[in-house]
Amino acid sequence: MNTPAPVTVVSHPLVQHKLTLLRQKDLSTNSFRRLLHEISMLMAYEVTRDMPTQLIDIETPLEAMRSPVIEGRKTVFVVVMRAGSGFLDGMLEVVPGARVGHIGLYRDPKTLVAVEYYFKMPHSMHERDAIVLDPMLATGNSAVAAVDRLKETKPRSIRFVSLVAAPEGVAHMQQHHPDVPIYTAAIDRELNDHGYIVPGLGDAGDRLFGTK
Ligand code: URA
Repeated sequence: MNTPAPVTVVSHPLVQHKLTLLRQKDLSTNSFRRLLHEISMLMAYEVTRDMPTQLIDIETPLEAMRSPVIEGRKTVFVVVMRAGSGFLDGMLEVVPGARVGHIGLYRDPKTLVAVEYYFKMPHSMHERDAIVLDPMLATGNSAVAAVDRLKETKPRSIRFVSLVAAPEGVAHMQQHHPDVPIYTAAIDRELNDHGYIVPGLGDAGDRLFGTK
């Protein structure tokens, strides 16, 4: 088997500092949301590091030149609902020209299997680079299901971005989608019996939306 695509742990001190604050159990919903927003902006920088650029003709006050710009319209952020939406605004601040797709999945609480309830992507996916946003890579079931479904639209490339991953989730993704690079701010110790990442940060969706 080919070597799987790399797993990049974004170790920038600002990301690690904000993740530590965000993990803490007594943090308000507002602070959780703000920190996730800030982290997503910083992670966008890493995830887009090798984005293709094209040269355009411009004029500075002194002379004409050719200068690179990002093909922003080629990027599609794919939000895995609902926690993935906490990652979106920060990414869009950094790549404002990107399109956005949504995949609705819920985890069956007994089987932990991902069940799809919504799927909407922009047109011409074959021309786009997809960046899948899902903060918690736990069992990997939803991540694999999301990427399975996304691949049906044949995007030009796919990357997967999480905030916290479990080793089990990373292994599951690498087994099913070895071509998809993973970006995360941390790989935690393990999953518990309920499929939660430990030490983790709890239920990201509940903490983001204050629904606990
Ligand atoms: N989803 C979450 O929100 N948290 C976990 O720990 C696992 C899955």
